Amino acid sequence: MEWGMANRMHRMFQPVSGNSVMVAVDHGYFMGPTRRLENTRATIAPLLPYADALGVTRGILRHAVDPTSTTPILLRVSGGVTVLKEDLSHEAITTSIEDAARLNVCAVAMSVFVGAQYEHESLVHLSNLIDAGEEHGIPVMAITAVGKELEKRDARYLALACRVSAELGARMVKTYFCENFAKVVEGCPVPIVCAGGPKLDTDRAALELAHGAIEAGAHGLDMGRNIWQSDHPVAMLKALRSIVHEKATVREALEVLDGEKARLATSKRAVEA
Ligand code: 5RP
Repeated sequence: MEWGMANRMHRMFQPVSGNSVMVAVDHGYFMGPTRRLENTRATIAPLLPYADALGVTRGILRHAVDPTSTTPILLRVSGGVTVLKEDLSHEAITTSIEDAARLNVCAVAMSVFVGAQYEHESLVHLSNLIDAGEEHGIPVMAITAVGKELEKRDARYLALACRVSAELGARMVKTYFCENFAKVVEGCPVPIVCAGGPKLDTDRAALELAHGAIEAGAHGLDMGRNIWQSDHPVAMLKALRSIVHEKATVREALEVLDGEKARLATSKRAVEA
C-alpha cells in the first residue's frame, strides 16, 4: 500500500486494537433532516472528540464541522435519489475525487446496490471511484446498501455484496449485522465495519449488536442512529468504544454507559446549582 493510502487507513483504524468507531452522520443525503439530525452541527460537536472517523457529505462537512478538527473524515460521495422514490438504487457519484482531496478527507464512501435494478451501474460507479481513489491515495469504502428491502440483511446476501465490493478493490466495506455474521466477515478480504441500522428499542440492543459484530471479526463500527438518536449519545459512543477497542463485554459496556450517564447528571446538577 502506498504511503498516502496507508496513512489514511491508519488514521481511521486505531493502532492497538486495529479497529475503528466511525460515526455516520450522512443520512440526510437521501432522508432529509431525520430525527436528531435537524441541527447537524449540534449533533456532531459533542461526538467529534470520541469518533475515530466522521461520515458526512461535503455539504454537512462545510456547514457543521470546524476546519480545525483533526477527526478523520469519511466522505459520502454517492447520491442522486431520495426516500421519496421506491427504488433507491439509482445512485451515481455526486462528489468528485478532486473535491474529496481538496477537503482533505481520509476516505470516500458510496453505496453499492448488489442485486438491485441498478446493480450494474452501481458496480461500475464503484470501480470508477476506486480507480480515482487509488490514483489519489484515497481509500474507498463500499457500503452494501439494501435500500428499502431490509429482508436482504442475511448472511448469504451480505457475504456476496461484501465480497463483490472487495473484489472490485474497495479498501474497506460497511455492511449490516445479521445472524451468522462471521460468514460475512470470513468471505471478505478487507476490513468490515458494521452499521447499526434503524434505532433499536434499547441501548443494550445496540451494544449487543456491536459486541456480536466484533466477536465475529468486524474491524469496528460505522454507526449512526443508535448513537445520535440515543438519549445519551456521548455515553453511548464511549460504551461502544469500550467494546470495539477494549473488548468489553456487553455488561461492561453497560457499566461504562451508566457511569457516563451518572457523571453527566452530576455535572448538570452542579451547573444548575
Ligand atoms: C446511510 C448510511 C449510514 O451511514 C449507515 O447506514 C450507518 O448508519 P446507521 O447506523 O444509522 O444505519 O450509509 O445510507
